[in-house]
This record gives sequence, C-alpha cells and structure tokens, in this order.
Amino acid sequence: MYKEYYGFKELPFNVIPDPKFLYRSPGHRDALAYITYGIFQKKGFIAVTGEVGVGKTTVINAFIDLFHKSLAIAFVFSTKFPFEQLLYLICKDLGLDVEGMNKAQMLLGLNEFLIQQYEKNMSTLVIIDEAQNLSIDVMEELRMLSNLETRDRKLLQIMLVGQPELEDLINDNDLRQLKQRIPGICRIGLLNRDEVESYVKYRLQVAGAINGSVKFTEDAYDEISHFASGIPRLINILCDRVLLIGYVKDSRIIDGRLIREGIRDLETPENPVNDRRVRLR
Ligand SMILES: Nc1ncnc2c1ncn2[C@@H]1O[C@H](COP(=O)(O)OP(=O)(O)OP(=O)(O)O)[C@@H](O)[C@H]1O
Ligand SMILES: [Mg+2]
Repeated sequence: MYKEYYGFKELPFNVIPDPKFLYRSPGHRDALAYITYGIFQKKGFIAVTGEVGVGKTTVINAFIDLFHKSLAIAFVFSTKFPFEQLLYLICKDLGLDVEGMNKAQMLLGLNEFLIQQYEKNMSTLVIIDEAQNLSIDVMEELRMLSNLETRDRKLLQIMLVGQPELEDLINDNDLRQLKQRIPGICRIGLLNRDEVESYVKYRLQVAGAINGSVKFTEDAYDEISHFASGIPRLINILCDRVLLIGYVKDSRIIDGRLIREGIRDLETPENPVNDRRVRLR
C-alpha cells in the first residue's frame, strides 16, 4: 500500500489518539500545561473541552504517558451511566476488587484505597472522557466523591473531558457548587492555517517520512485547512485519502488539485465528512 511507496514506517494519519503523534500546537501545549498544573496543585476538579476530533483524548493519553508512574489513574469513558456503574468502572480501573459490591461497599473500598495512596504520598486521579454525557445527578455524586479528604488534602482529583456541551452542563444552575470548584475550564481550540501545516509535517515526520519521499505544496495546506476547519481528525481523514490518491497516480507531490480530488472522494451530499458541527465559540 502507500506506506511502502512513501517510505513510512507507519501510517501517518491514523485516527487513533496515539500520543506519540502529539503535535504540540499552542492550544494542545496549553491544555497539557493546564492539566499538569491542575493535578499537581491538587485543584480537586479540572475540566477540558473542545470540538469533536480536536485532540482531547490524545492530550489525555499524552498526560497519562508522562505521569502514570507518579499518580494512580482511572480512565473511564462515560456513556449515560448511572453513578453506581461509573463508580464500579472507576474502582475496577484503579485495580480494586469490587465484584458484587453495592454502592456503599464500593465507596468504602475506594476510600480505603485513597487513604493508602495518601500514606504513600501518591495522588489519585479519575479521568472521565466523554463527560458531556454525564447527567446532573451523576455530576453531583462526583462532587460528593471529590469531598473525600483528609484534614489537609483532597484525596481525589477528578478530570472531566468532553465536547462543548460539557460547559453547558457545568454551567447548569443545579451544579453551582461543582462549578465553584473548577478553576476555569480549559478549551482546546482549532488549528489555524499555519498550525495545520506544522501538524501535517509533524505527523509525516513521526511516521518516518524522509526528505523528498513526499511533499505537500502551500496550496495543499490551504485546501486542507479550509476543508478541515482546523480539526485534526478531519485533517487525518483527508490526508490519508489523498496519500492513497497520490500513490495510485504515482505522485510524491501533493498539491491543491489532489487535495480537492480527495475532498470530492470523501464528500457526497448525503455524507458530508465535515458535518459543520463546528460552532466556533
Ligand atoms: N495535537 C495533535 N497531534 C497529533 N494528532 C492529533 C492532535 N490532536 C488530534 N490528533 C489526532 O486527531 C484525531 C482525533 O483526536 P482525538 O480522538 O484525541 O479527538 P477528541 O477531541 O478526543 O475527539 P472526540 O470529541 O470525538 O472524542 C486522532 O487521530 C488524533 O491522533
Ligand atoms: Mg475523545
């Protein structure tokens, strides 16, 4: 396939949130710094939001890669779970044996675990991805969970990660107490034109592109940026398609014309790839 043709060691535009490929745009770098500061300053709650495909999970994975040795981390994805189920997943991910336990027993087990961690001078972090799916009731229970503390320190840090709807949830009047505990929300923004170019070049380089094996022209970057509205996942989908077209046409130069061809391939009126869910706010 095109991997060998261009001499890549691996595919440059996979759509999995692999932190090895993390391009530290100013927005992604700020997010990583905000998360690190919030967790190590023991702020209790932190929240990260961003549009679909902007790189939230990739940033979280990069954070976990960096700090998994100094923190106990539970990383769970929220669907519309009741709290008890979420608590079960959190406990399991922390390595607790909670099979068959009820909510009170799980809370007791978790509390014991947190105190053991505290005695070892280790912090515990719960990351909830897709947190825009949480209900108000579950958010409120999470707030209670974050109340577990010793006289001098919070025992548990909670990181909420989600699409912009998460901000609406946090701003809900019924969650005023929770909101007060979040020291500002970190929003990961969209890449601008130049960042799109750097992003593409970075991913090509990490994938093992060597000089001359493939070259994107300036107008190619313009077209990609316009199509993808600065969203990395859309950039990946488009670039993957375009590299395939380049391979079929035996072209190592990717120009605007090839990009437009890729966009035509991907988009049909019934199936727009960039479904314009981007609300620039
Ligand atoms: N800064 C970045 N550097 C490299 N790749 C990135 C970056 N940001 C996003 N990506 C890539 O874009 C794709 C989507 O990223 P990711 O899954 O992290 O987005 P998300 O914000 O979590 O999306 P969703 O809202 O759907 O959960 C992945 O393939 C990821 O590797
Ligand atoms: Mg995600």
